[in-house]
Amino acid sequence: MNIRTVSTTPFSDQKPGTSGLRKSVSVFQQPHYLENFVQSIFDSLEGYQGQTIVLGGDGRYYNRQAIQIILKIASANGVGRVLVGQGGIMSTPAASCIIRQYQAFGGIILSASHNPGGPDGDFGIKYNVTNGGPAPEKVTEAIYARSKVIDSYKISDSPDVNLDKLSVLRMGEMAIEVIDPVEPYARLMESLFDFDSIRQLLQSDFRICMDSLHAVTGPYAKNIFEKRLGAASGTVTNGKPLEDFGGGHPDPNLVYAHDLVEVMFGDNAPDFGAASDGDGDRNMILGRNFFVTPSDSLAVLTANAHLVPGYKDGISGVARSMPTSAAADRVAAKLGIDCYETPTGWKFFGNLLDADKVTLCGEESFGTGSNHVREKDGLWAVLFWLNILAATGKSVEDIVKEHWATYGRNFYSRHDYEEVDKAKATELMERLRGMVGTMKGQKFGEYEVEYADDFSYTDPIDSSVSQKQGIRIRFTDGSRIVFRLSGTGTKGATLRVYLESYEPDASKHDLDTQLALKPLITMAEEIALIRQYTEREEPTVIT
Ligand code: G1P
Ligand code: ZN
Repeated sequence: MNIRTVSTTPFSDQKPGTSGLRKSVSVFQQPHYLENFVQSIFDSLEGYQGQTIVLGGDGRYYNRQAIQIILKIASANGVGRVLVGQGGIMSTPAASCIIRQYQAFGGIILSASHNPGGPDGDFGIKYNVTNGGPAPEKVTEAIYARSKVIDSYKISDSPDVNLDKLSVLRMGEMAIEVIDPVEPYARLMESLFDFDSIRQLLQSDFRICMDSLHAVTGPYAKNIFEKRLGAASGTVTNGKPLEDFGGGHPDPNLVYAHDLVEVMFGDNAPDFGAASDGDGDRNMILGRNFFVTPSDSLAVLTANAHLVPGYKDGISGVARSMPTSAAADRVAAKLGIDCYETPTGWKFFGNLLDADKVTLCGEESFGTGSNHVREKDGLWAVLFWLNILAATGKSVEDIVKEHWATYGRNFYSRHDYEEVDKAKATELMERLRGMVGTMKGQKFGEYEVEYADDFSYTDPIDSSVSQKQGIRIRFTDGSRIVFRLSGTGTKGATLRVYLESYEPDASKHDLDTQLALKPLITMAEEIALIRQYTEREEPTVIT
């Protein structure tokens, strides 16, 4: 085997965002683009030589080619062993699970998560560290710094390997194990949840529908729900992973998972519906004619964790990203456990989970997870819900409404303005940054600003500081408006406006969310001049 050292010049745009480097496929297909980034990863790590790396992706277009390139670069750089998912496929939570189970040095995950795929869609790559979680900022910054000066990469000129057959292969000195990516994950799920009770529930007249949106969770969901839990065949819909997700947008929300939404809000709807995203870390939970907001979902899981075998001994704490509603905070207060508020992105939960400060964590963006891995986990959330339903015998709607009656309801919605002009969106944020210092005490009708700031986070474990994480404007009645720019979009800028209000009075809990949030929606426009800066009359997506 020959190792070539290839001269290259840096690309200036390889700064990892909220979740790794995400670009359109055509950007990744430029000569040396992927190679530069992968070499920059290895150049920024210490001590990986001879060690095990996990490699897999969500199966989107360019996944297979990328895997072959990465194997050759890994081999040339002295990696000892690569565990690669069969077909090059591994869901993000499964990759995290496998890194941990095999005590691997780290992992490379290929995914653009919920972004569309195909030749005209997006691709992405991220590095995960030994705990199975996304690399912390100091690592991603080192990778970025290296990518700006890189002048060569090393690559083996071995032929492509067969990724479809479970086997142990060699590429030069490096071993390549093509492994079943489903089995270790499914076994982990069995160890956390009461599969017997869930099986009984699924074999009764209780009906569920799991929409995998032609993304990575299809094989996992079929194995777990249909094979291990005995759900009717056909329970998993759109279960075949496709390189372009069937042309769809693999994002489990009310807008993009429309087929499921139609079923769950139609006549004779099933009792439970769920969907997951491109790489399997997101989830949407629906009851019959009922949508559970991800913020509420985190709160409900926290309040009911004692019903689930893997968490029955209690949870140490809970964490939520800053824009996520404070519903979980109320549960934490009642349970007498800590609740942490972190910046957006799963990488900020890693230290808290490792230090056992928290057991559960979640984000408003359809992400929920726990200390079982170091990524958010879509199917885990679905199983958690099914376990609660099996243990209580109640419906999704009853569980959530009873929860609101106990804790009050945090009305919550996110308004996204996608693909707007980047310079204008940055100007909008800069303007707000200039305003927040003097907003305290300012009145907007009945609302008075309790505090306003640009969220800054000091990690309680390693004291690292992350600044400029979003503008928060909080009012004295507990309502809040948050403004942020997306760190995962690949075209222009995406402005996210997060709206939240708190209603303790149960007689008002059935109000429509957008109606309940109307005064805040109007205020957000008044404060940030959204229409003027985005040149949009309304949001592109409301979740
Ligand atoms: C979005 C979500 C964020 C999530 C990330 C990766 O990031 O808002 O909560 O962690 O995707 O799934 P954003 O585009 O807002 O930076
Ligand atoms: Zn995802």
